Amino acid sequence: MGTEIKKGKFITFEGADGCGKTTQLNLLKEYLLNEGYDVLVTREPGAKGLGEKVRDILLNYDGVVSDRCESFLFLADRAQHIDTIVKPAVDEGTIVLCDRHTDSTVAYQGYGRGLDLNQINMLNNIATNGMKPDLTFVFDVDIETSMRRVGAEKDRMESAGNDFFNRVRNGYLEIAKNEPSRVKVINATMQIEDVFEQVLKIIKTFL
Ligand code: TYD
Repeated sequence: MGTEIKKGKFITFEGADGCGKTTQLNLLKEYLLNEGYDVLVTREPGAKGLGEKVRDILLNYDGVVSDRCESFLFLADRAQHIDTIVKPAVDEGTIVLCDRHTDSTVAYQGYGRGLDLNQINMLNNIATNGMKPDLTFVFDVDIETSMRRVGAEKDRMESAGNDFFNRVRNGYLEIAKNEPSRVKVINATMQIEDVFEQVLKIIKTFL
């Protein structure tokens, strides 16, 4: 009998701004820890170290940022994140819960900013070195709910306007339509506990 090779899982949380995914991520973290799993919570952009500096530029730089430059900054952050944090943890058997990942670039820079989707998919693939999430939640909300949750203090991305929001939202729904076994859409307009019920149902089948 050989030793069983333990392999973790890579689960990503996606959705437009104000969808409540971070709250759900933290609820799932508590649930999984209680069940005895090793869990790592991380995020894009800006997990640790270099990533924090890239995040600061992306969200707070107040000069002109070209759409391609913005994409490359998210992708640079992603490459560092996969290599130094996500892959090592998954290889060790940890369940990695990641707040945003490749689908954010497809939804925001592709559908939102209008950059070529094939190119973005190719660049995402380079940034991740081919590593893909095992499961992705897309938290779907309408614009009114989103605006209420984001509040008055908006960062550079959140200030992009209603049309942009709707393109991002529809982009996520397209992604889910194209990859239904990986990407699960959650109705995130409901109360926190009801949203989490939907998450749990999927996780129980998945694990
Ligand atoms: P953040 O404060 O982390 O927002 P949230 O809490 O909604 O995740 O800011 C991340 C912002 O960056 C968010 O507006 C989405 C955007 N983003 C992209 O445009 N492309 C990407 O590839 C990623 C990872 C994020």
